[in-house]
Amino acid sequence: MLKVDWSDNYSVGIDEIDNQHKKLFDILNILIESKELRIHSKNITNTLTKMVEYANYHFQTEEKYMLKYKYPEYALHKKEHKEFIKKTGHLCMATMEGNEMVPIELLTFLESWLVNHILKTDMKLKPFFLDKNIKQF
Ligand SMILES: [Fe+2]
Ligand SMILES: [Fe+2]
Repeated sequence: MLKVDWSDNYSVGIDEIDNQHKKLFDILNILIESKELRIHSKNITNTLTKMVEYANYHFQTEEKYMLKYKYPEYALHKKEHKEFIKKTGHLCMATMEGNEMVPIELLTFLESWLVNHILKTDMKLKPFFLDKNIKQF
């Protein structure tokens, strides 16, 4: 599985969000690179936990600003975040209980969800904030 490389195509035009997305890619890349390690390795468990925690923190940032600027699709966007946390949490638990390697299913889910969510759902924030002339929070 290939690592995800950041490019300008992923930019939503606001540094704080872009930087958080980069960090999520970094965490994902650590997992992709260590996928041959066994899941009970402490590092893997820590990295998975970090992914959930950082994603949570990142979603809160986006939701805070969507609310602040009265983004019309707030509820829908928030629902996607919630589903991600729920699904990732379940996959992590199953993975850790299974005493196996990091399953490709988990990595594939994380990568495709993050890339799709950024390119489709988060990207809709770009014209919204641009229109309001907001370049920084
Ligand atoms: Fe989002
Ligand atoms: Fe995001």
